[in-house]
Amino acid sequence: MINGTLNHGKSNSLMNEYSSLLGEAILRNRTRAAEHSARIEAELASRVKSEFISNMSHELRTPLNTIIGFSKLLSEHNGRPLQNTDIVQYSHLIHDAAGQLLAVINDILDISKIQSGRYTIDHSEVHVDDVLAACVASSKLAADDAQVSLALYVDASLSTVRGDITKLRQIFANLLSNAIKFTKPGGKVKVDANRTNDGGTLVTVEDTGVGMSAEEIEISLTPFGQVDGKRTRWREGTGLGLPIAKSLVELHGGRLEIKSRKEEGTTVAVFLPSRHLVSGTTR
Ligand SMILES: Nc1ncnc2c1ncn2[C@@H]1O[C@H](COP(=O)(O)OP(=O)(O)OP(=O)(O)O)[C@@H](O)[C@H]1O
Ligand SMILES: [Mg+2]
Repeated sequence: MINGTLNHGKSNSLMNEYSSLLGEAILRNRTRAAEHSARIEAELASRVKSEFISNMSHELRTPLNTIIGFSKLLSEHNGRPLQNTDIVQYSHLIHDAAGQLLAVINDILDISKIQSGRYTIDHSEVHVDDVLAACVASSKLAADDAQVSLALYVDASLSTVRGDITKLRQIFANLLSNAIKFTKPGGKVKVDANRTNDGGTLVTVEDTGVGMSAEEIEISLTPFGQVDGKRTRWREGTGLGLPIAKSLVELHGGRLEIKSRKEEGTTVAVFLPSRHLVSGTTR
């Protein structure tokens, strides 16, 4: 009996020892996992930051150099006469470069306003099908240049959305520009607009392009984040379009979701409610 109690006490203390060892091992493992994810986040932030500086100076310098170079040639016209056709061509180049510069500056202002919560949007009745038709029409040239086919399918029963027409144009123009930019020649871009069961609108922009992994999707939604953001990256841009588009969709009371597979393609889905709740009231 005494022997039995002794054995019982011994196994109890062994059990205690095992359980505290196990507890310590679990804690150590959790700390290691937390440190690992903090390190990954820090690495991602520093990578995005350094790529941003080099990309941004490229995005600002390229149009500025065009403006400085061609305006100089125009200003020397008296000493070194230019043909009329040259004058027209140089003026167009300067005008386009100034437009590019303005777009970059507007994006930077947009993202900083969004991040500080000072962004407001208009709430009027918008026909999303008209917005999509206009965006698809103005992307046609870029799609032809990239040898990518572009199609639009709109559900006839689509209802209007309460929102900001300029911002909705900005959202879809960026999604289309991305889909075309990241799809190789011979690929396809398809835009679908459907009515959801609750009367809202679902727009999907689907491409057969380079695609993204789960980690790359996260980078793409980070302001200034570009999947191949190094100087060797194969496409232009500042990496602001997608985070701005996501925030603008959310300001409409909707949500933006990305599904993608490497080398297969990407689908960006935008859900927009028919009515948007603003501070407890339906607009
Ligand atoms: N459809 C897509 N297919 C593959 N990669 C994409 C797609 N859309 C976005 N990406 C990736 O996400 C990144 C961020 O996209 P985003 O629109 O924010 O920036 P951008 O197009 O590079 O520049 P911009 O600010 O001019 O829009 C892109 O650089 C690209 O790496
Ligand atoms: Mg873009």
